[in-house]
Amino acid sequence: MKLAIIFLILATTFAYTIVPTLDIDLDGPAKQRFQPAVYLILNTYGFDASFGAFFSYHNETTFKHLTSKDYDVLAASVRTHWPQYAQELEGIVEAFNRPDVTFEYMSAWAYFHEIGHSLSVNIRECTAILLQTKEGIIHGRNMDQSPDAGRLLVVHFKFLKNGQYIGEAVDQYWFKTGFVTMFKYGVVSLQENWRYGHYLPLFMLLKKIAAGTTSLGWTFRHILDSDINNFDDAVTYLENVIVACSQFNIIAGTGFNQGAIISRDPISTYPTLFFNNTGLGNDQFQYMVQTNYDHWHKDPKGDQRRTIAENLLANLTNTMQNELGVYSVINTYPIHNEGTFYTAIMNVATGRFNYFGQEGITPFNDLE
Ligand SMILES: *[C@@H]1O[C@H](CO)[C@@H](O)[C@H](O)[C@H]1NC(C)=O
Ligand SMILES: *[C@@H]1O[C@H](CO)[C@@H](O)[C@H](O)[C@H]1NC(C)=O
Ligand SMILES: *[C@@H]1O[C@H](CO)[C@@H](O)[C@H](O)[C@H]1NC(C)=O
Repeated sequence: MKLAIIFLILATTFAYTIVPTLDIDLDGPAKQRFQPAVYLILNTYGFDASFGAFFSYHNETTFKHLTSKDYDVLAASVRTHWPQYAQELEGIVEAFNRPDVTFEYMSAWAYFHEIGHSLSVNIRECTAILLQTKEGIIHGRNMDQSPDAGRLLVVHFKFLKNGQYIGEAVDQYWFKTGFVTMFKYGVVSLQENWRYGHYLPLFMLLKKIAAGTTSLGWTFRHILDSDINNFDDAVTYLENVIVACSQFNIIAGTGFNQGAIISRDPISTYPTLFFNNTGLGNDQFQYMVQTNYDHWHKDPKGDQRRTIAENLLANLTNTMQNELGVYSVINTYPIHNEGTFYTAIMNVATGRFNYFGQEGITPFNDLE
């Protein structure tokens, strides 16, 4: 019995963690869409251990310099330009039912990445792998964030429209009504990664938001819920939608060569990288890796995740040119690192969307 308990503890410490699933009916009232997710987390973990710890950490970094006037600008912008998402946020605020979780505060969360860039918050997060195989493009995604409490917020959603499931997402950012990992059946798998690029000073960012610029979390929702129904249209949209912060969009479609890394910046434009457009003297990639730095530069010395992943992918044996191969690379330290909240292994050609929660890992050298 004792042994069984010890094994159970080991298993829950070192294995993957279970992510709950909820349905979202996009035809249902916007206000109610995310309320079950809020109740689920609050009932399971309580506020302090989950959202409370996550909010207080990011209050000290991303939201530290916002004034109450800034919060008002953000809230008014969301209400004016994004009425559907405003209703969803209203519902989330109602479900929290706490004086410190206001519509103004949640509107700032809706623009979390944009504000973080403007204030030069140092976030090292996320790896994307695209591997072209005989059975479509395998898209591996690690989400890395802080603090640990954010792991408790990860939820898997299945989206319904006209009574049909149209896609899925897994994320901890759902409470800002945006997603950075999305899967639209038969169309595309999507991922967003932090990019170090130009950033707008806060007053310029707020002006842009007040003029109706999207949050990066809403671009994938637009693809999910619009008539964008093929890879090329999704790429064109992501290349052209006006953004308020630097970002990488990693996307795979159902056909041969339908994989791309789209590098966005609020000021400059850059060419998109495709499997068959390497710009590096090769004319065909078998795989592409994207972390947080421009692929036309070498990895910085202190963060070799892309280089390590590329070498592992180059060494994959023929029998590992599949989901197992992508999993073994993405689960290797430091690609899987202290901050990894979840992993998704997607293949939109086969419709397979695999996801699981991750524990942070730190290498331990028992020879020292
Ligand atoms: C986060 O910041 C907001 C806005 O200043 C504040 O109302 C709230 O109490 C803070 N939440 C936590 C958990 O620290
Ligand atoms: C590259 O692949 C894409 C997607 O399949 C295709 O549309 C495009 O024509 C290809 N470009 C070249 C130069 O072969
Ligand atoms: C295999 O990985 C090593 C590093 O471990 C790397 O030097 C080598 O280039 C990789 N092989 C290929 C074919 O790229």
